[in-house]
Amino acid sequence: MSTWVKENCVSFFQLFCIKVVKTGRVPQHIAFIMDGNRRFAKKHNVQRNTGHSKGFDKLSETLKWCLDLGIPEVTVYAFSIENFKRSEDEVNGLMDLARDKFQRLLDEMDQINEWGVRIHVAGRLALLPEDLQALVAKAMLLTKNNNKLRLNIAYSYTARDEISRAASHLVDGVNNQELLPEDIDEDLVSQTLELGEPELLVRTSGEVRLSDFMLWQISNTVLYFTDVLWPEFSIWDILAAIIYFQRHAPPARLEDSISEEKLNFLERLEKSRWQQLENMAAIVAS
Ligand code: FPP
Repeated sequence: MSTWVKENCVSFFQLFCIKVVKTGRVPQHIAFIMDGNRRFAKKHNVQRNTGHSKGFDKLSETLKWCLDLGIPEVTVYAFSIENFKRSEDEVNGLMDLARDKFQRLLDEMDQINEWGVRIHVAGRLALLPEDLQALVAKAMLLTKNNNKLRLNIAYSYTARDEISRAASHLVDGVNNQELLPEDIDEDLVSQTLELGEPELLVRTSGEVRLSDFMLWQISNTVLYFTDVLWPEFSIWDILAAIIYFQRHAPPARLEDSISEEKLNFLERLEKSRWQQLENMAAIVAS
């Protein structure tokens, strides 16, 4: 049984409903702010970290729904840089949960490859404990050729930090004479960021804030807020969000072409990111 993609969680009737929804436009990239784990724990009188663990289980169900819906890219907000300010006990619990899940992902690589899931962890990874950095880096390196569903996990992430890191890469590009200052435009900034633009953003638990998530990327995104707590999010909630998207989505935009200099800069940046991951993965192995 796979940990990351929950099998057998869709009935025939639900599959039929998925097929009906798929006759309309389905977002090609969906993002989730998975909010409400602690309120769920309080409501059910269980430990806070049990709430987060139930939150992970819901993520694995959601990934199955997204695979069945044919959504090729999913981004989830799993740990914000602000979350480091929570109690030591809760932060340690969340780090342990991540260690456990990434270790299991590495142990279950055959199943992940069968599902075709590619993992990308976006954020300031240097803030994480070194052993977790190594696990995360290995997960990204070992799944990089999968192409059915790209799962971006925003971890140790805020949008403003992501934008600052992109700005610093662009300054390096100009200093190295790969780019001219006038090359820096909206498209290049977008492509220098770690995360792409979602077509639909869902936030659970009734909060109607963005909490520093994908601020640059959502300028054209349909926003869907629901009161349900993340661990209680159901297939009917995701279908309702997609039907809402079908009623409100702006027309899909065509990508502009890109100059050779910009392409070379982006390729070099991508290469240096993979090199950093190789180094991170080697820290603990050595
Ligand atoms: C927000 O709810 C949720 C989080 C800060 C953590 C979300 C993490 C997971 C769902 C697990 C993901 C794990 C991996 C390894 C990908 P909250 O804690 O703010 O709850 P509240 O809004 O009720 O206080």
